[in-house]
Amino acid sequence: MVDKVNMGIVGCGMVSKNVMTARKFAKIKNIDFVACADTNIELATRFAKKHKIKEHHGSFDALLDKGDIDAVYLAVPHFLHVDLVSKALKAGKHVFCEKPIATNVEDGLMLCNLAKKEGLKFGVNYQYRYDKGLHSMVKTIQNGNLGEIYHAAVRVPWYRDPAYFEKSIWHKKWETSGGGTLITHTSHAIDILAWALGKPSTISGECNTKKYGDIGVEVEENAAGVVKFDSGAIATILGSQVTKPSRQNCYWTFCGERGTIKAKYLFSMYAKVKYMGLKNVKVNPPRASFLAIIGSFRGFAAWILEEIPYLTPGWEALKALCIVKAIYRSNDDVTKIKIGPLKWWH
Ligand SMILES: NC(=O)c1ccc[n+]([C@@H]2O[C@H](COP(=O)([O-])OP(=O)(O)OC[C@H]3O[C@@H](n4cnc5c(N)ncnc54)[C@H](O)[C@@H]3O)[C@@H](O)[C@H]2O)c1
Repeated sequence: MVDKVNMGIVGCGMVSKNVMTARKFAKIKNIDFVACADTNIELATRFAKKHKIKEHHGSFDALLDKGDIDAVYLAVPHFLHVDLVSKALKAGKHVFCEKPIATNVEDGLMLCNLAKKEGLKFGVNYQYRYDKGLHSMVKTIQNGNLGEIYHAAVRVPWYRDPAYFEKSIWHKKWETSGGGTLITHTSHAIDILAWALGKPSTISGECNTKKYGDIGVEVEENAAGVVKFDSGAIATILGSQVTKPSRQNCYWTFCGERGTIKAKYLFSMYAKVKYMGLKNVKVNPPRASFLAIIGSFRGFAAWILEEIPYLTPGWEALKALCIVKAIYRSNDDVTKIKIGPLKWWH
């Protein structure tokens, strides 16, 4: 039996570097990274050398043609996800794509159907599901230990400096990024919210861009959403990429019949979860690591090698995108309660 997936990395930018760094702290024994590609060939060359990757290429097509690979890890700008995932699936490769699944729900759905048709695995890296604390928190909620859920909140008060946008200019534009803080950062927290509470029934929201307009950022920098779920539970979402000081945590609160659960994700490391008034259920994600990103890679490979379901197959990743896109629509839409001038409001 094959015990390793031969994986090609496409896009040798920030997140791929982070994955390689994380590998120094926890091994991914079921994956061999055998090739990498970047349209910036110098970057691909340096990346391959530094991380001892056998082959490197200057294009995705070259990697697909030459690389002896079973699966690709796509870590490229959002607008490229739909084309590159399609191409890889049509070439017979399993696909592990970075979040978001695509820049719109229709494209994401098309990719899920294509993967099904081709009989290939298609996962999206929402790695927070592989954090042991967050995983147990969601299982506690799903198992009914919190009782009926009344309300919830997520808050992602993050900060990105101008260099972030200058280095990866695609983050600035709707066309290339599909959105700002909601689709890029806050969608991790929304993924956990949707996983815990199920299908939403109504969504509304507001967005603004206040800080980096002068350097060409047109996507939203701050966003607030309100979601009502089919269960009747209500939730608020607050996301930002301009909140100072930087390196703040990401937070969730779930309040239900039996008590309250509060979680904070310590910056890109691991979550601390507090149970108030109830006992938690301890359930580890399959192939877990103390680093969620490592668990997520191991989990995807275990899906290919052992048929252990990966926690965010494409159709699961659509859920966060669906909520994000509804907040954008609500922000643009006319279906808002207008508060006109009020003489008494001083
Ligand atoms: N899961 C996470 O925690 C996490 C964290 C950061 C970023 N991401 C996601 O990772 C993806 C990449 O983000 P990033 O911050 O690494 O971006 P980046 O701009 O740092 O890197 C993207 C790389 O892709 C390369 N590229 C562009 N077009 C290409 C093509 N056609 N073929 C091959 N390479 C190409 C660029 O040259 C660049 O090196 C995005 O989807 C982002 O949302 C996920």
